[in-house]
Amino acid sequence: MPNLNSKAKIAVLISGSGSNLKALIDAKLDVEIGLVLSNKPNVKGLDRAKENNIPCSVISHKDFNSRESFDQALAARLLCFEPDLVVLAGFMRILTPEFVTKFLGRLVNIHPSLLPKYRGLHTHQRAIDAGDKFGGATIHYVTAELDGGPAIVQAKVPITENDSTETLAKRVLSVEHKLYPLAVKWIIEKRVCFKNDEVLLDGKLLPQQGYDVTDKLSKN
Ligand code: GRF
Repeated sequence: MPNLNSKAKIAVLISGSGSNLKALIDAKLDVEIGLVLSNKPNVKGLDRAKENNIPCSVISHKDFNSRESFDQALAARLLCFEPDLVVLAGFMRILTPEFVTKFLGRLVNIHPSLLPKYRGLHTHQRAIDAGDKFGGATIHYVTAELDGGPAIVQAKVPITENDSTETLAKRVLSVEHKLYPLAVKWIIEKRVCFKNDEVLLDGKLLPQQGYDVTDKLSKN
């Protein structure tokens, strides 16, 4: 069905505090954030959705006996909403290839590392342990490969000698809150497009790590 509402319809999937959801709401993009789904009950992100009158519900993975059946329920709920874009914002579940296929090209994630470095968990500690000079965050299209889909944008933050996981995570999170609204804006403006497992920005193929917006974000 065509989207008769001229605004892009966005669904956001969360598992926790929803600070990236808040950043997207606060950015006041010309979109309809019309659905928030959480796989965990009683999380702060659900309160943020309610405070902003965004329909939200919990689909708990614990109510399903397989990853496939959970993903089918999630997909069914999302398909009823007919999203133009599904935004994973701190959504801590691995999605099945079947789910990803249904939303391929309109499913994006934020990952707290400079992908392709450090897919998976404990990204900040791994960057510190490796003696990296920079950490950061990446927005990427989701494919069946965990944290392996093509990147859209990326921003770096410095890692200092005294950094702990917590201090670095805090610094990265504040960048995430600028990075996600920017990526969503570019997607809905159709500056960004996903084609043949690659990402184009303004018609130009992006490198594996996406477009580096570190300087652009530091000026805002
Ligand atoms: C963020 O670091 C995000 O990259 C990670 O989950 C964290 C918290 O996200 N995947 P939020 O506060 O729930 O948006």
